[in-house]
Amino acid sequence: MADTATPNVIRRADYAPPAFLIDTVALEFDLIPERTVVRNTMRVRRNPDASHAANFELMGEQLEFVGATIDGAPFAHAHAHEHGLTLDNVPDNFELTLTSICNPAENTTLSGLYVSGGNFFTQCEAEGFRRITYFLDRPDVMATFTVTLRASKADYPVLLSNGNLLEEGDLPDGRHFARWEDPFRKPSYLFALVAGKLVALEERVKSGSGKEKLLQVWVEPHDLDKTRHAMDSLINSIRWDESRFGLELDLDRFMIVAVSDFNMGAMENKGLNIFNTKYVLANPETATDTDFANIEAVVGHEYFHNWTGNRVTCRDWFQLSLKEGLTVFRDQEFSADMAGGATDEAARATKRIEDVRVLRQMQFAEDAGPMAHPVRPESYVEINNFYTMTVYEKGSEVVRMYQTLFGRDGFRKGMDLYFKRHDGQAVTCDDFRHALADANGRDLAQFERWYSQAGTPRVSVRTKYDAAQQRYSVTLTQGYGDAAPAARETQKGPLLIPFAIGLIGKDGHDLPLQLEGEARVSDSTTRVLEFTQTEQTFTFVNVAQEPLPSLLRNFSAPVIVEYDYSADQLAFLLAHDSDPFNRWEAGQRLATRELLTLAGRATTGVPLQLDDSVVAAFARVLTDETLSPSFRELALMLPSEAYLAEQMAESNPAAVHAARQFVRKRLANALRKDWLAVYEKHRTPGAYEATPEASGHRALKNLALSYLAELDDPAEAVRLASAQYDAANNMTDRSAALSALLNASAANGGSVEAQQALDDFYRRFEKEPLVIDKWFALQATQRGSAQRPVIEIVRRLMAHPAFNLKNPNRARSLIFSFCAANPAQFHAEDGSGYAFWAEQVIALDAINPQVAARLARSLELWRRFTPTLRDGMRAALEKVASQVKSRDVREIVEKALA
Ligand code: TRP
Ligand code: ZN
Repeated sequence: MADTATPNVIRRADYAPPAFLIDTVALEFDLIPERTVVRNTMRVRRNPDASHAANFELMGEQLEFVGATIDGAPFAHAHAHEHGLTLDNVPDNFELTLTSICNPAENTTLSGLYVSGGNFFTQCEAEGFRRITYFLDRPDVMATFTVTLRASKADYPVLLSNGNLLEEGDLPDGRHFARWEDPFRKPSYLFALVAGKLVALEERVKSGSGKEKLLQVWVEPHDLDKTRHAMDSLINSIRWDESRFGLELDLDRFMIVAVSDFNMGAMENKGLNIFNTKYVLANPETATDTDFANIEAVVGHEYFHNWTGNRVTCRDWFQLSLKEGLTVFRDQEFSADMAGGATDEAARATKRIEDVRVLRQMQFAEDAGPMAHPVRPESYVEINNFYTMTVYEKGSEVVRMYQTLFGRDGFRKGMDLYFKRHDGQAVTCDDFRHALADANGRDLAQFERWYSQAGTPRVSVRTKYDAAQQRYSVTLTQGYGDAAPAARETQKGPLLIPFAIGLIGKDGHDLPLQLEGEARVSDSTTRVLEFTQTEQTFTFVNVAQEPLPSLLRNFSAPVIVEYDYSADQLAFLLAHDSDPFNRWEAGQRLATRELLTLAGRATTGVPLQLDDSVVAAFARVLTDETLSPSFRELALMLPSEAYLAEQMAESNPAAVHAARQFVRKRLANALRKDWLAVYEKHRTPGAYEATPEASGHRALKNLALSYLAELDDPAEAVRLASAQYDAANNMTDRSAALSALLNASAANGGSVEAQQALDDFYRRFEKEPLVIDKWFALQATQRGSAQRPVIEIVRRLMAHPAFNLKNPNRARSLIFSFCAANPAQFHAEDGSGYAFWAEQVIALDAINPQVAARLARSLELWRRFTPTLRDGMRAALEKVASQVKSRDVREIVEKALA
């Protein structure tokens, strides 16, 4: 295939150890926005475990080479080229000093050293360090770093880098310096520096062994009032990693810095985490409950990387999930423990449901398209394109399966062994699996397939009850269905699937479980079956009545379960399953099935109908005050349009939208009184509280408001929403009210109330960029109508003075929100959405290839759409393919068109 002919493809099979090792690095920066001089002194030696190379090849990009010395003497045989620097015939062991110049002011890629808001920041993962200095910029080269920063004291009063501050002082001409030392060896992708006008919230805490630690959250001065929650999240993360995994903070000082221009969420640089402001800044007026929860999760995630990623790092970038899948798993468990402790299963389930919803909507879709890849990819063109849902979220599910198989204690033993063996090393996913296997006395050879096979496994289930013998047999079959070609190539054999199951009796209670051949009944009414063959039958004995199976409890493996439940059975599970996840799941299955039937009808023009029994099932959840508000909110939220479209033989966003809107209106009108009652009952008067309980009440109340906005006569909802908007003392309620006003008026082409609220929102928060992002996003994701297509609103907003394509958060708030979160409007039949998409991908490609490539991905599933849409999508992809320059976007569109 073309693949092998393309020299730009990097393959896992080609891994070779580096020819040289770098033990120490001393960096000196003279920070000037347009012309920063970097002096880099390295201790270099040949790698005894690599084959001999006469020349020393260093990576470098966008650098102006100034000069080289070896052991203090000028070295003439250094040749700078487009990808780096070649030093001819170097000695075996030497000190190398390289001097180069870069231009942070003009760096719009936000990779390497760049300027944002007048301050300096770095982003080195994955391959940004080579844009700062020449280096062996690969994660298996680990060195200790000393960093000296010099800059104007007036313009850059704060100078930060990794580790501990050794020294600081003044220099001539109004300049000053700071010298930092990181005592731990690290790969270059964990290097960071920050310089500028920043202030910090500080806190001193004692770690488990009694050592005092200095914690700082650095922000621009006007944001200091939004740092408390990030600091609390950091303190909670430190405590949690000690208590759950026995892992202590290893530095005297730990810093978080917020920056508004950032490509991703945050970055785990050793001792100096750099964050997108979106995942740091919060107070009740500016941030929603979801923002608060995301901040806790991301602060935790980056902090947990200190052990899973930094102390033990990746040998090469194919192993990315070694740190990301594991760290996502850890942050998910942290959030669940914060919400529900170890034992409140209902509260933990809320987090689990939210995580699974993301996995199924985003990762399953990725697995079904041209970018499908295993958790440990085999090849890539641009590594930045592989920071994916599969590596992160499916990777986390793979880690979770070890815990499901071995229990919390067994998992902990495996983690302990992993650190004992590999602390200070750059290792592979196999090393992690071996540690888990050895600590638990298990052979996990088959489990390796979870790392090497792409695509979403399907498990179909057949059951048989033998009343005379009181036996209940469950036959499981695994396969991949008609997987995407990219996934099919990787599939070799059956997986080890931990399949959690329970059996439910006629009274709604769990039945005792005893498998054939076992002497007695198990302690638990949930069993984890180890399903290892293509087809396998598990037989339960002494089953006194025909049960209803509760399958894949707590979503014990990242698979699709196929089982023919009747609508009545699903309603029964929704009412009774003791597993909160499956209770939610039953409602989703019920809704999905109805919605897909309706979407099919919508394409043929047959009038739509919804069965009363479905309305009744939802009514029971809505009015059941024994269920937690947050669970009810999740259970009453219909599957997303994107998820539903993905389930159709041919995705038809307009039909899905029509079906989902029909059901929402039906539920709104049929249950109007109940929605109103819930709205009133779950108000949270008084001062804002950020607790999970209070946020559950707000979530349910605001869901009720959004349903009320669907009423045939929305006047009442508009009154409620306007009042809520005006009275709100927090962003959760204010933005929910604004959204309800926008959607209530969509069918009539907009309303005075909606416009007034939008204008008020802008004026009120003009100085809060993160809130203005919400203002753009709310408009980009609003419902449209024939008279008022959203594309026109979006195009108008592109010209708004506050819009800025160079700021990724702002670009995402308007462009990505429209292209990826408003399917019914984006996929307009006239192709207007696709033309807009192509323009923006091309424009972004010239500014920031990483961000452009993310946007490019919103058309990758084009082959799965209805024929009319497909043609328009292909044309847009071809247009982009003919014009883009970056490797990042090229890989995406070429794979999509292949
Ligand atoms: N390692 C980061 C994380 O915590 C991801 C990340 C941040 C990143 N910035 C990046 C990856 C820039 C690639 C490019 O998940
Ligand atoms: Zn991470």
